[in-house]
Order: sequence, then C-alpha cells, then structure tokens
Amino acid sequence: MENLKLAIQKKGRLTEKSLQLLKNCGLEIESYSERLMITVRNFPLDILFLRDDDIPEYVQDGVADIGIIGKNVVVEKSANVSIIKNLGFSKCELLIGIPENKDLNDLAELEGSTIATSYPKILSEFLSENKIKAKIVEISGSVEITTSLGVADYICDIVSTGNTLRMNHLKKSFSVFKSEAVLIASERIDADQNKTSILADLLKRISSALNARYSKYIMMNVKKDGLAKVLQIIPSLKSPTVLSLASEDLVAVHAVIPSDTFWKISDDLKEAGASGILLLPIENMIL
Ligand code: PRP
Ligand code: ZN
Repeated sequence: MENLKLAIQKKGRLTEKSLQLLKNCGLEIESYSERLMITVRNFPLDILFLRDDDIPEYVQDGVADIGIIGKNVVVEKSANVSIIKNLGFSKCELLIGIPENKDLNDLAELEGSTIATSYPKILSEFLSENKIKAKIVEISGSVEITTSLGVADYICDIVSTGNTLRMNHLKKSFSVFKSEAVLIASERIDADQNKTSILADLLKRISSALNARYSKYIMMNVKKDGLAKVLQIIPSLKSPTVLSLASEDLVAVHAVIPSDTFWKISDDLKEAGASGILLLPIENMIL
C-alpha cells in the first residue's frame, strides 16, 4: 500500500520546527541533508522537501497529499487545499513596514502610495476592505530594500523577529494578516481509504504532541502544613496528585502545569513550604 506523502519546507523558517513536530509524534526520521525525499522508518509516511511557495500547488495537484506550510502562503496562493490544523509554531505577521524616519498614523495615508510586497493578493484584499487605492509592486524577494531604492514608499512583508526590518532601517506599522504554520491536505485524499486512515493516525499524534508542548510536569516535596497553600498556587490542568512520603511531615505533590507559569509560581511555592521542585518536559499528552 502507498505511503502518505507530506511536503515540508526544504530550507527556511519552518523546516526545523516541522521536523521537530514529526519527531515528537514518535516518527523516526533519518538526517535528510540535501535529499528531496525520505521515508519514515516506523510510520507509512514519505517526507518531500520543497520550496515553501510551491507546497500549496503540489498538494492541490496531488504530488503530495498533505503539507506543513505558513498560512500566509496558503492564502496568497489560493490553491484548492484545505487547512486541517493550526500548528501554533512559526508565528509571524504580514504587515506594513515604513522607513524609520517616516510616520504613518492612519491607514488612509496609504492612499495613492506605492507598496512593494510578495503578497499582492492578501494586500490588495486588505486595501480594498479598507477602501484604499494604492499601487502594489510585486517583488519575489528582498522586499525590504525597495524603499531605500526608491521603488516603493512602503513595504508589506512577513515579520517574525523583526530583525530584517531593523537591519533595513524600517519599522512596523499596520498589521495586515497574522500567520502560523498549518497542516494542509489535498481534497483527493478523501477518496483514498488507506491514506485517510494514515492521516487520521498522524493527526491524533500531532494533537497529542501539540497538547504536550505547552505543558510541563512539576514535582515537589511539601511540608504538610503548607499543602493547602501550595495546592492553591499550582495552576494545574487537573487536580494535582498528593503522595505520602516516608517522612511523616512531608508529602509529594505532582501536577501538569502550563509551561509559561513555572517562573511565576516558583518563588511562591518555596515560600509556602515546597522544596526539591522539579520541572520535567512532557512528550505526549492525550486529553
Ligand atoms: C520572511 C520575510 C523576511 C523574514 C522576516 O521571509 O520576507 O525576509 O521572513 O523575518 P524576521 O522578522 O525574523 O527577520 P520568509 O521566511 O517567509 O522566507 P521566504 O520569503 O524566502 O519564503
Ligand atoms: Zn518562500
């Protein structure tokens, strides 16, 4: 039976994180270096490495069955594919960038200007929604240098860390589109029972890996008289586990907490009588 074919970005912002997600799903992936395709050892999946801009079309045409790609690219290419899951990584924003020494206080000031972008479709929809007429110059790469070259007044480009903007003496202005990595699928997959069931299995693993990503397992010893206070402090997803210990005046407390809360509560926990606080990663979590 045929393997499911997944397309991911060959080289860029999404590559490492896409592979990491697949590894967190329990897939054994050999190093890919410069290869175009690899087969996962312990799951019926082939991974194709492609240019990100080509992925929506390849999935639409059935060259790949599914793909991991920025939502910005899917929407811009308007390919006939469906977004089946938001993946929550590689978050970025398509926004209007302006020269550092200029100001843009109102969207209406874009009227009559020239804006360079690699996202003409998303930008023109944004402009017409806001009833603004501006000239769009389509550029396939290095959009950020167009203002200093005098090609455009403003740019509309993807910003993630903001480094590219800063390096080119540009600053952020209005937000046009918020993006993150998404899983897309070809519509023809529905007709293929074998592939549909592989995809269902993969989706189950992806959900479990994503749930786990934002959670950590916390363990600590607590003096019995501080237990009530400690249980109040812990922002547990479920009721924490309290275990008795050999030492009479101590108990062990275990809980799953949102990762980003640890540093907010660690001092309070110590103050309430917790000691030996351990924070452990969780690989998978089935809710
Ligand atoms: C975008 C954009 C900038 C960079 C911004 O490119 O065009 O070059 O990311 O990121 P920063 O704010 O972290 O500096 P993208 O990764 O989408 O690559 P591509 O256009 O070559 O596909
Ligand atoms: Zn690209």
